Amino acid sequence: MAAESNLLVGLDLGTTKVCAIVGETTEGGEIDIVGIGTHPSFGLKRGVVVNIDDTVNSIKRAIAEAEHMAGCEISTVFSGIAGGHIKGITGHGMITIRTQEVTKSDIDRVVESASALLIPTDREILHIIPQEYIVDGQPGIKDPVGMHGVKLEAKVHIVTGQITSAQNLVKCIHLAGMDVADISIEQIASSEAVLTEDEKEIGVVLIDIGGGTTDIGIFYGGTIRYIESMTLGGDHIDRDLALGLSAPLPEAKRIKEKYGSALLDLVNSEETVEVISVGGRGLKNVPRKRLAMIIEPRVEEIFALIKREIVKSGYYDLMPGGAVITGGSVLIDGSAELAERVLGMPVRMGIPSNIGGLKDIIANPIYSTGVGLVLYGSRHDGEKKLRIRDENVFKNVFNGMKNWFSEFF
Ligand SMILES: Nc1ncnc2c1ncn2[C@@H]1O[C@H](COP(=O)(O)OP(=O)(O)OP(=O)(O)O)[C@@H](O)[C@H]1O
Ligand SMILES: [Mg+2]
Repeated sequence: MAAESNLLVGLDLGTTKVCAIVGETTEGGEIDIVGIGTHPSFGLKRGVVVNIDDTVNSIKRAIAEAEHMAGCEISTVFSGIAGGHIKGITGHGMITIRTQEVTKSDIDRVVESASALLIPTDREILHIIPQEYIVDGQPGIKDPVGMHGVKLEAKVHIVTGQITSAQNLVKCIHLAGMDVADISIEQIASSEAVLTEDEKEIGVVLIDIGGGTTDIGIFYGGTIRYIESMTLGGDHIDRDLALGLSAPLPEAKRIKEKYGSALLDLVNSEETVEVISVGGRGLKNVPRKRLAMIIEPRVEEIFALIKREIVKSGYYDLMPGGAVITGGSVLIDGSAELAERVLGMPVRMGIPSNIGGLKDIIANPIYSTGVGLVLYGSRHDGEKKLRIRDENVFKNVFNGMKNWFSEFF
């Protein structure tokens, strides 16, 4: 087993499962996945912690399993943060260039002026992501330092989140006995695992449909431009099926995963499946078409809402890379076809790639965020080793995130 310094651990706290993934840096600088631990998540709803004890327990179980598989002891993790509480808004700033030549301090001033927006008191700025600079009306400049001009403008993307949600997340990881090296929003983590650099450059939408949340990240010009998180996911499909078939929720989930289809056309009309009825009323035979009739409109609705978000972002016509869909819910048969139809752009499924080790196991869209956190960690490891013990840690972590974004540009 490699020394622990070669190991990086991603901890994805999802609404369906908590998943710990251990990556090992090889001599050639590649990452091999050497351990995976997953445990059902009972303490999170819509991406946020609703029960501390349950979340801590799920984390401990997932970590123990990953430690066992990798033969290591985990003390530090890279964690994701998600949920409907995370929002992105775009700000615009303008200043006069003091010395006719743009300096680093002009950049700081213009970014600050673009960030001077009204942020509600229960929210915290998580990221300030410069998008582009405009010098004397000339747009699309990535690094204006040294350029001559009079007026400097900046467009920045500002990501805010509910401060208490982040606090609870860090607290749970601490109570499970670990430190948090860094936190990344899940869109950025997953993008490391499933998107190519080319896609991010030309324009691509990353869509992660999990159990309780759907996360959208729009990438263009090599960087993230827009994020949105909706409290919609596979759980809603389960509920529709449970209602429509009078089946208990766990049974609805099981038949969805085994026999569900997002496209009615893909299902053979002869086929039936056995479904347990609610209240111990035995088994009944249900045509598979009936399942698809319930699932299709819900998945269609989810993609219609996603399309609305993409259009709202203003990037809809700038996405030649199309959409990459990931997260467990895209495993439903026909999801990609239906997504193409509704979104009106090419769609491919995103599974973790460019990685060694247990690649057959992690080649599954449910692991995109966990593997992405390992890759994110490998890029940013050593930049900020946060040894966090107190409750104020999240401040340090978020400052770390902000630093990272400024380094990114
Ligand atoms: N084979 C499958 N077919 C259909 N759906 C599936 C399949 N496997 C998993 N799912 C669904 O995927 C969802 C879980 O996805 P995922 O593991 O990405 O969620 P999560 O990360 O825990 O949740 P979130 O990201 O919303 O917090 C569940 O609704 C589950 O039923
Ligand atoms: Mg997830």
